[in-house]
Amino acid sequence: MGCLLDVHADDARVLARMAEDIRRGLTASPRQLPPKYFYDETGSALFERITELPEYYLTRAEDAILRDIAEDLARQLGPSDIVELGPGACRKVRWLLDALADGRDVRYVAMDVGREGLARAVGALADEYPHMHLHAVVADFERHLGCLPPPIGRRLVLFLGSTIGNFDPPARHALLAQVRRLLGSEGRFLLGVDLVKDRRVLEAAYDDAAGVTREFNRNILRVVNRAVDGDFVPEAWRHHSFYNTEASRIEMHLLAAAPQRVRLRALGLVLDFDVGDGIWTESSYKFTRESVSLMLGDAGLVLDEWQTDPEDHFGLALARPRERT
Ligand code: SAH
Ligand code: AVI
Repeated sequence: MGCLLDVHADDARVLARMAEDIRRGLTASPRQLPPKYFYDETGSALFERITELPEYYLTRAEDAILRDIAEDLARQLGPSDIVELGPGACRKVRWLLDALADGRDVRYVAMDVGREGLARAVGALADEYPHMHLHAVVADFERHLGCLPPPIGRRLVLFLGSTIGNFDPPARHALLAQVRRLLGSEGRFLLGVDLVKDRRVLEAAYDDAAGVTREFNRNILRVVNRAVDGDFVPEAWRHHSFYNTEASRIEMHLLAAAPQRVRLRALGLVLDFDVGDGIWTESSYKFTRESVSLMLGDAGLVLDEWQTDPEDHFGLALARPRERT
């Protein structure tokens, strides 16, 4: 059937915005970087390795739930327009695509900022699902949801992997409110969330023994170096992650291992760091059924169904738009 590729985030615009985000983040207090910049080619490959780590239970748990419910979901919803936000390697959606018979009348639209990864992932789907309409959209889902093609029939929006947890409450509210608009009145939303649990399990998932998460974290400095002609030395930064119980989130930081001066030539910025000075690179919020229901409710969505894995590590929420009164 073929495969379309739309690019709404071209290189020049992405670079200009990235440079501005880096300037704002690294001159703020605390210093920070937006986690969407983890996912260059190397970062996406490191994330794929993370999903296979023994400590990183999230992917296996969500995959198991999806495998169990895919048939029922396909029968119950009969979606003809599946939109996935941040699909990465587009692995999990295969459970659903497999459950949709030959998929002749189904369109799958995948939106991700990672151009190379997305083109490769959707290209592989095109080989496996030759009858399906596939559409890759290289774009930032916080800015470009309006660029999605109009729905064809009932729409199902997927947002998996607990990527929603990488957004602070105001940003996720804005994103979910936009998702609500994408659904029309008949659409449905399938959201994957990591759940609050024993802090030892959480902390191990973000500080694995093999050091892959450390390399993933440090890689953002390579992305910054390339984007703004910087001279960060990633090896001079320690990976630091911990569970912040009050805020229900894992925080990932990079801490300077020695005093250092960093030049970001394209920004005309010189930054001095003492030992232990940090850059906050990611938050990964953890949820409960109640907090998910509230978060959805605030965005005009209603939690319809809730599934967890046998260990209650991960949750999948199926939501629908609240009827307007
Ligand atoms: N959903 C997959 C991948 C999760 S990794 C899974 O469950 O395994 C997060 C993905 O979201 C990456 O592919 C990253 O490129 C993408 N992403 C992060 N922020 C984004 C944004 N603002 N717009 C579009 N894609 C984004
Ligand atoms: C993509 N996102 C949901 C992952 C997470 O668990 O927050 C990214 C990640 N960060 C460290 N390990 C994995």
